[in-house]
This record gives sequence, structure tokens and C-alpha cells, in this order.
Amino acid sequence: MKKIIALGGSNSKNSINKTLAVYAARKVETAETTIVDLNDFEMPLYGVDFETENGIPENAIKLNELIASTDGLVISLAEHNGSYSVAFKNTLDWLSRIDIKVWKDKPVLLLATSPGGRGGQTILASAKAYFPYLGGSVTADFSLPSFYDAFVDNEINDAELKNELNEKVKIFEQHLLAE
Ligand SMILES: Cc1cc2nc3c(=O)[nH]c(=O)nc-3n(C[C@H](O)[C@H](O)[C@H](O)COP(=O)(O)O)c2cc1C
Repeated sequence: MKKIIALGGSNSKNSINKTLAVYAARKVETAETTIVDLNDFEMPLYGVDFETENGIPENAIKLNELIASTDGLVISLAEHNGSYSVAFKNTLDWLSRIDIKVWKDKPVLLLATSPGGRGGQTILASAKAYFPYLGGSVTADFSLPSFYDAFVDNEINDAELKNELNEKVKIFEQHLLAE
């Protein structure tokens, strides 16, 4: 059985991106999902002086080890002012100080959702372009717009969008199994 991580790029307790990441990850029948909540890996605000004085936080080391021990990742990004949420970016910055290949050449299914009609497309495009520099092999990406209308009773209610995600999950799974 392969191992995957489902991660919401947010520290909101009721993160809609965590919900979407878990929903998509559970469609991968050939893998066991570990849910990563950024609140369980809280880290101080990254700064070069802080790092010089205090070193790398224990939670960054732990998360780095967890990523190293997985076969693939389903990451759904929250969009804050067109960019990563502070919590996700902070985590990324710390992880990159341990290993610039943050995602360790593992397959990534990259998602984003928001309550708005653009569904986090700005951050999705930005991360899709940048993740390869962090050792992230983005095998497929998907944006779910208008989350609260589109995702009801733990299901995507638009058949076309649901099929699109199912297809993207399949592509991700093929890469996962080929590893
Ligand atoms: C500071 C802030 C900035 C935001 N900026 C955007 C944005 O640029 N685009 C967008 O679609 N939603 C934006 N939103 C709304 C978020 O998409 C919404 O809060 C969503 O629930 C975040 O995902 P999460 O629930 O996984 O944390 C913003 C929210 C906050 C609090």
C-alpha cells in the first residue's frame, strides 16, 4: 500500500482546503492517507536572525521527516490576497532551510479552493510554476470555485467538476504507482 499526505495550506480549524485535500486523497484507493494539519506543526515566524540564534524548529524537522516517509502528496492551497496563506508560506520557508527539495521529487496533486468564483486559481498557478524548484512534481492540478455552493454533504455536486477531479486523481495515482 502506498502512503500519501493530505495537506490543507491553511491554519484555519475549519479549513475548506483541508476538507478538499482529504476528499481527493481518499479517492486514491491504492494509498493510505495521513492528514497533515498545519496547526499540529506550528512554527515561529521565519527570519534569518531567528534561525541563526535558535536553529530549525522541531516541528519543521518532524514535518520534513513525514514528507520523506510518504510516497506522494495531495496539497490544497488557501489563497490569501492572491498568494499563499502566511501559515503555509512560513512552513514552506522553514522546510526549505532543511532541504530545498521540500517535496523530495514526489508526485503532487495540487488543488485550491475558495468561497469565491475564482477558486484560488491565482495561487494554484503560482505554486504550479514554483513547486518544481522545490522538488515538487505536480502531476495534475484542480481548482474548485465557490466552495460552499459546490461542496455539499462531503461531495462535489457539479458532475463536470467532480469528473474533472476524478480524472486528475487518476493521473496522480498512476504517477504514484509508477514510483
Ligand atoms: C486575509 C485573507 C485574504 C484572502 N484573500 C483571498 C484571495 O485573494 N482570493 C480568494 O479566492 N479568497 C481569499 N480569501 C478568502 C479565502 O479563500 C477563505 O478564507 C478560505 O476559506 C481560505 O481557505 P481555508 O478555509 O482553507 O483557510 C482571503 C481570506 C483572508 C482571511
